Amino acid sequence: MTKVAQPSPSGADAEFYLPADAFFRASLPTALTFDDVSLATLYSEILPKDADTATALSDALRLQIPIISSDMDTVTESRMAIAMALNGGLGLIHYNMPAKDQVKEVARVKRHIHGLIQDPITVTPDQLIGDVLAMIETKRFAFSTFPVVDADGRLVGLLSGNVVKERYKSKAVAAVMTPRAQLITEKESAVAKDPIKAADRFFSTNVGLNKMLVVDAAGRLRGLVTISDVEKITSEAKSRRKPARDAQFRLVVGAALSPVRRPDGTIDRDAVLTHVGHLVDEHIDAVAVSTAHGHTAGVGDVVKLVRQAFPDLTLIAGNVTSAAGVAFLAGCGANAIKIGQGPGSICTTRIVAGVGIPQLTALYVASTAAKKHGVRLIADGGITKSGDIVKALTLADAVICGGLLAGCREAPGEIMEISGKVYKQYRGMGSLSAMKAGSAARYGHDKHDQTRKVAAEGIEALKEVSGSVDEVLGSLIGGVQSGMGYLGAADLGSLRAKARYIHVSSAGQKEAAPHDVVEVSTRKH
Ligand code: XMP
Repeated sequence: MTKVAQPSPSGADAEFYLPADAFFRASLPTALTFDDVSLATLYSEILPKDADTATALSDALRLQIPIISSDMDTVTESRMAIAMALNGGLGLIHYNMPAKDQVKEVARVKRHIHGLIQDPITVTPDQLIGDVLAMIETKRFAFSTFPVVDADGRLVGLLSGNVVKERYKSKAVAAVMTPRAQLITEKESAVAKDPIKAADRFFSTNVGLNKMLVVDAAGRLRGLVTISDVEKITSEAKSRRKPARDAQFRLVVGAALSPVRRPDGTIDRDAVLTHVGHLVDEHIDAVAVSTAHGHTAGVGDVVKLVRQAFPDLTLIAGNVTSAAGVAFLAGCGANAIKIGQGPGSICTTRIVAGVGIPQLTALYVASTAAKKHGVRLIADGGITKSGDIVKALTLADAVICGGLLAGCREAPGEIMEISGKVYKQYRGMGSLSAMKAGSAARYGHDKHDQTRKVAAEGIEALKEVSGSVDEVLGSLIGGVQSGMGYLGAADLGSLRAKARYIHVSSAGQKEAAPHDVVEVSTRKH
């Protein structure tokens, strides 16, 4: 097919649909957010499915999709971070937990091997079946087959679900289990590289078995693969995006760092460095100095401190909404800067403190400094639909989502039912309950800090349960690729270069959403 050279927009197009510099200046003194603007379409040879969504947060940290799960205690722990990385993104583990627990959460992600359950629930030979039944009941396990291990973690048998019955409750596990000698197991060294392929082979050869037990050279149980997981993963493999991995093929993960303070308000340098050291020992890919106000001496000191001690670590810092804030954090050594003050769905900073900038203008202003200082930008907060992500990516390298992911089954927290609908808790890290649980430093409320603030800057809320991270990211990325297709952008750099904006009136906003119909579908985003 002959390619027709496409000139850059001219005539009425060039006059009405403006590039970022002209557009945001022309909107002065009004600040704009996602719904205030729309992007103009351009000649395209790009099919959405071919649009490349890869991005980078530093020269060392590359992601396949530009979406990061927020470092909030109702959004990201290891389960969410694993799901994010498997989909090509990144999870930032929150810091509302003791430092050693955060390190463990990071280790769980780095050691995750897809398909292999590395900490299977086990029982011991001397337990009674009655004890096992009670454990299933209290922990609400949906399964009843358990590997049996001795005190040293060595596999001694398998307790099959068909003997975990009331009728056998007074019998010991050892009396009813299938003993080790009769079990077919796999060596850790044989499956570690690709457990799914190994398990696929195992289940095809060993007809009738539905659990593959993995042991090390000393006979210790190292993991378990179930046939149902393998079948699910194999059938999903075609649609799955490429995972985000480090050079050693481990999933990538980040963690938020709290600027721990002493009673006089000064940063506890030793505590900060020791903690980051432990995270680095677990091969963390990025550390985020997460605060509500990043353009401060305190945050700058923490960023400098970590940068000096760990010159190669990818450092994210924020939040700011000004060019000066970006220049400041870049000067302190950050690689990627979080932009957003008050756009979040659970934020009340603008109401409580009267500060903050509508997110798209904040991103534009920040982007002017990012280019100069060679840092990446992350749009943090206020994203409610895939179109917002496309708009954010015309000015930033990635987005952080809180609310959009908080309803996923991989987010921490209990599922609750209210009037027949199921919800998960979602709360601001500056809400009273989250600060009580530990995030006070982020919002200047640390009780050890004599300069602390007194008003909360976030609310506690619920999100309707929204399925799995795979499903949610699938539709978000589908939307991003669709936007790239409309702009003829083969990759995110091209999306940034090509974006042309138009201001939308409130009538235009109404026109943009479904209107004057009774909706019958179950549209999610
Ligand atoms: P979304 O809109 O994705 O926003 O739910 C998530 C982002 O909101 C920020 N955040 C807060 N901002 N008070 C605030 O003003 C809070 O209590 C609070 N908690 C989180 C944070 O940047 C997050 O990624």
